[in-house]
Amino acid sequence: MSSGTVLVTGGAGYIGSHCCKLLAAEGFEPVTYDNLFRGHRELVKWGPFVEGDIRDRDLLEKTIRRYRPAAVMHFAALSYVGESVENPGLYHSVNVGGSEVLLRAMTACKVKQVVFSSTCATYGMPESMPIDEQHPQQPVNPYGVTKLAVEQAIGKWSAETNGSSVMLRYFNAAGADPELETGEWHEPETHLIPLALAAADGQGPGLTIFGDDYPTPDGTCIRDYIHVTDLVQAHLLAMRTDAPAGESQAYNLGNGEGFSVRQVVDAVEQVTGKAVPVSNGARREGDPASLVGSSARARRDLGWQPRFDDLGSIIATAWGWYQQQGASSQ
Ligand code: UFG
Repeated sequence: MSSGTVLVTGGAGYIGSHCCKLLAAEGFEPVTYDNLFRGHRELVKWGPFVEGDIRDRDLLEKTIRRYRPAAVMHFAALSYVGESVENPGLYHSVNVGGSEVLLRAMTACKVKQVVFSSTCATYGMPESMPIDEQHPQQPVNPYGVTKLAVEQAIGKWSAETNGSSVMLRYFNAAGADPELETGEWHEPETHLIPLALAAADGQGPGLTIFGDDYPTPDGTCIRDYIHVTDLVQAHLLAMRTDAPAGESQAYNLGNGEGFSVRQVVDAVEQVTGKAVPVSNGARREGDPASLVGSSARARRDLGWQPRFDDLGSIIATAWGWYQQQGASSQ
């Protein structure tokens, strides 16, 4: 599809809001559907907004009938690994139950295309690296379990309804819109880069490094950081590619290069010109030593080419956003 309306569930969140900006720039009308539990009304800037829960079948159907989207970009979910361990029932209800309600509403309203925000957490502990899409999916926390269950539900939906679906499995989303119209805004914040930026800025007691005895060159965990605008570009490409009816495709989205926590801290110091106070803490439960993805398939089939392929430029956009948020809250 090349124009029209797209329903963006979770469009008031970090990745969803970047997606809305891109869709609008490309001539689509993004309709944000979000309950604002973790999303922010201030980040809905590029199209209509409907406040609602992803489990609310009536409101979803009303919204779809009113705006008649040709496709759905499905971001709405809870996404904290630690919280999912504490409250797996909630994660199941929102992530799995909500997605099932969405699929039923799509079927009732004859919407035939969905692009799903999935995660490398569906793979669990890596058996080989880089991780490609053939890697076994054996998630080790409830968050990953729920995302895998949604992938399976969407696959089944595609087969049963002749719908087309794409699962995009992100590695570590990072950075902000280079024009700083949206960015990472989590409450609470748990992610490494924003926490390291806040520590560099003198906020709080400093950054705790979760484990320095991993079997990696400097002992800290390695992750594959991918810029949020590159992620949403892949969503657009996936939607335009129109996966064959009745089938579902899965693509990893990462840069294919791993950086350790210490390397991220060094890069934050370089970008900000400030020291990051760090202390070494215990390992965080469920953290694999290293997670690096192969996105060869997305590059080949979707023509996806990440623009932010170095850590410094990713962090620079996150720092720009951090500073702007600080300035606007003063
Ligand atoms: N880390 C620290 N200190 C902190 C925060 C993080 O050392 O204060 C470390 C973590 O242990 C990890 C790395 O920094 O090794 C990155 O941690 P993040 O919390 O930023 O990201 P995760 O890799 O844990 O999580 C990301 C996504 C999740 C997804 C997961 C898949 O945010 O949604 O990848 O493994 F489930």
